[in-house]
Order: sequence, then C-alpha cells, then structure tokens
Amino acid sequence: MTPPKPTPVGIVMAAGKGTRMKSERPKALMPLLGRPLTAHVLNALEQAEISPIIVVVGHGADEVKANLGERYHYALQTEQLGTGHACMQAIPHLPEEATDVVVCAGDSPLVTPEALRALWEYHHTHDADATVATAVMENPTGYGRILRTPNGAVQAIVEEKDATPEQKAIREVCTSFYCFKVSALREYLPRLTNQNAQGEYYLTDVIGLIAQAGGKVLAWQSPDPSLLMGVNNRWELAQAGEALRMRLLQNLCLQGVTIIDPRTTYVEVGVQVGHDTVIEPNTHLRGNTVIGANCILGPDLYLQDTTVGDECHLFRSHIVQAQIESEVAVGPFANLRPGTVLKRGARVGDFVEIKNAIVGEGTKVLHLTYLGDATVGSGTNIGAGTITCNYDGQRKHRTTIGNGVFVGSHATLVAPLTIEDGAYVAAGSTITDDVPAEALAIARSYQTNKAGWVRKRRESNNSERAGGPSDG
Ligand code: UD1
Ligand code: MG
Repeated sequence: MTPPKPTPVGIVMAAGKGTRMKSERPKALMPLLGRPLTAHVLNALEQAEISPIIVVVGHGADEVKANLGERYHYALQTEQLGTGHACMQAIPHLPEEATDVVVCAGDSPLVTPEALRALWEYHHTHDADATVATAVMENPTGYGRILRTPNGAVQAIVEEKDATPEQKAIREVCTSFYCFKVSALREYLPRLTNQNAQGEYYLTDVIGLIAQAGGKVLAWQSPDPSLLMGVNNRWELAQAGEALRMRLLQNLCLQGVTIIDPRTTYVEVGVQVGHDTVIEPNTHLRGNTVIGANCILGPDLYLQDTTVGDECHLFRSHIVQAQIESEVAVGPFANLRPGTVLKRGARVGDFVEIKNAIVGEGTKVLHLTYLGDATVGSGTNIGAGTITCNYDGQRKHRTTIGNGVFVGSHATLVAPLTIEDGAYVAAGSTITDDVPAEALAIARSYQTNKAGWVRKRRESNNSERAGGPSDG
C-alpha cells in the first residue's frame, strides 16, 4: 500500500509596508475586488488544501491580522529585513511533522488553486529540495531573473537591482511562489547575508545556496505567466483587478448568467448570481450580494450586501444592505438604504428613498417618497410624495401601515403612527394620529372657491394702470 501523500503547509509573506503603493494602509490590505490583496492568495492556498497556513505579518500587524481573520497562524516580523528574513520568522511556527512547505508572497492575487497544486505536484513527484515557480514574462522588469547553467539547471536568482544588463535581458522570472523541503529551509535560511543592492535578506538567494551545495533545485514554469504576477504599485493593482474581474465574469457566464458588457460590469469575489439572470451595462454587485434566477439587473445599478430573489427587475438605482424577495421591480432612481425589505411582488419607483423599512407583498411605492423606520403591509398603495416623518430631532419613531391601505399623494405621516388595514389617507394630509381600520383620515384645510375673483382683480389692475404714471 502506498503511503498517503503528505500535504504541504503554507507560508505567506505579508509583512511589507508596500512603499510603492504610497498608502497609509498596509499593502496586504489594499482592497481588490471586495477583499484584501493578501486574502486572494490565502483563499487559493485554502482551496488547494494547503494547511495550516502561517502568515508573516509586520507592518500594521494588528490591523492585518484583524482583517485576514483567525483561520490562520501568524508569525511576527518586527523589522522588514527582506523576504528571506520574513520566511525565517515563520519557521518556528511550522508543525513538527511538516516535511514540505509552499511559500508565497502575499502580493500575487491572481494565483489559482490549480497552479498551486501543479507546483506542489511537480515538487513532490521529483522529490526536489526546492522548486521555484517561474514564468516567462513579456516585460520582466522588476522581477528576479532565473539564472540557469548551460545545461538548463537552475543556478540562482538575481534581483533586478543587482542584475547586470545581460541578466536583465532574461525573461524567465521568479514569481515568489516556491516549494521547499522544510529541512532545506532550516539549513539555508540562516546562511543568508544582506550583501546586495537593497541590504536585505533575500529568499531568492536560498535557491542559489541550495543549488551551490548540490541540492536538487527545480523550476516549475507556469503555462500562464499572468497567474503569478506580483502587485507592487496601484497600477499593477488596477491591472490585477481587471484580470480577476474578467475571470469572475467568465465564470458567471459559464454558469448561465448573461453579461451584456463585461467592460462595465463590476462583480466582487463571493457574489452569487442565479441562472438566466441578465446583467445590463454599468452594473455593480458588491460585497455579500446574492442574486436569484431570471432577474434583469441594470443598466446603471449599484447593489451592495443585498439579497435578491428570482425574477426581479432592478435598474438605475442604488441599493445597500437590502433584502429583496422574488418578482420585485425597482427603479429608476430608487435609493434603498440598509434595512430595506421588499416582499414578493413589491414595486418601488422613481425618487423613492427607503431605510429600515419593510414593504409588504405587492405593495406599490412608485414615486417621490421617503419611507424610514416603517412597516407597510401587503397590497397597499403609497401615493406620490408620501413622507414618513420618523425623526423628531432627537429620536427615531416608527410608522406602521397595514394591509390594503391607500395613502393619497403628498401625505405627511408623523411618527409614531399606525394606519390600520384598509384605511384611506386623503391626499395632502398631515397625519399625526392613528387611523383605525377602514377609516378615511383627512387632515388638511378646506378649500374655498372665490367666485369671479380673477375677473375682478384684472379690472382693478387695469384701472390702476390707466390712471397711474407710465414708466413704459
Ligand atoms: C519579490 C522577489 C522577486 C520576485 C517578485 C515576484 C525577493 C527578494 N524578490 O520581489 O524575485 O520576482 O517578488 O513578485 O524575494 N515581505 C515581508 N517582509 C519583508 C519583505 C517583504 O513579509 O521584509 C513580503 C511583502 O509584504 C510581499 C512579499 O514579501 O508580500 C514580497 O515582497 P516585495 O517587496 O513585494 O518583493 P518584490 O520586489 O516584489
Ligand atoms: Mg512584490
């Protein structure tokens, strides 16, 4: 019986400040498609079943740990003295039985679980001491270059800043993804020096040291170089974001979602969309957003942390932390704020703002309305210009509107207030007292028609003009 294949453990180096980002925020936390930069690397490792994962943190360590979460082990690198030094800090945290380790830079967010598995399989199958993942880049500027002997064996890695012009012409680069035998790391990391252009302890030099000592050093060349790109500045962050976004959109399309214009469709990692939903141009789906089947979303729609049922039609609106059931229509120009719940078949139209409010089944709120801190029953009609006055300057109050209620246009509903089932509110009313079921509430001054007023005014104006001074 063959012994079970050992699974490698992971080290992710994420202690750097990210000077080239020119940001107050630690590099590991630079946002990328709804997640911190380093979270993308961690997710790929987890999906590749590389565990446990030790994350090396340093710059902004507490903030980085709080954001990346408790699923990982953390090693602290108090001074950022280079990638070799970072890796060294993780060694005491490795489980005793670990034989092999996958080491990654925390700034390469496009890596896939498949690429990590392929690197590991290659390393393991060939029983190497070290395997570096390499890629042949169109433009290798900024990366460490792979130096090979005339017969093709990996000899060393030279950093851009230490490279001669001939070495800079090499297009095969170090991607900062490696597999090592733990024993090799333990032996050679302490032998690193910082005698180089940046005065740092380079992890890349471990490859040279192992090769020099006659160890087995291999290169696993990625068939797709873009998967292993590093992100050091904001332009690279933008490019990685674009590549990741296209990958997500492609996956959605292959799962049965129609995307009319991928260039203007912004979907973050983790968003789910049901089959046969159509996403029109300029639609943003962010955070923990889940969309059902057969919906039409957009054009011009922003959804964040929102759930949407099936067969909804939402367009040209801004929706944050809302719960939308099936067969709901929203738009154009609705502003749905946190705590909005739209029950099945509800319709919300133009210039409607809703916050912390439940709108019942089949209820219509079609124009120019503010519903704040309200519960509205089913089959109710909220007329144009209805406002819930929920704030008295100090506290918020709730408005409760029952089923089958008709609120006429331009009603001002002063909370706390209850309007019971089947009641009518006359247009233009300011309602301050509860309205019983099936009552008509009318709260406005009565109308007076002054007969012949217009004609009399005209005659009086004319006679004044005839007698008075003419000013042309
Ligand atoms: C590194 C490699 C380079 C490779 C490139 C691929 C070295 C010396 N160079 O360069 O060969 O082509 O990645 O993207 O390894 N970090 C720490 N502690 C430190 C320094 C860095 O944790 O003291 C972390 C950073 O947070 C980052 C990663 O290590 O996530 C890589 O560091 P970075 O400064 O980005 O190295 P590169 O210049 O990109
Ligand atoms: Mg980098």
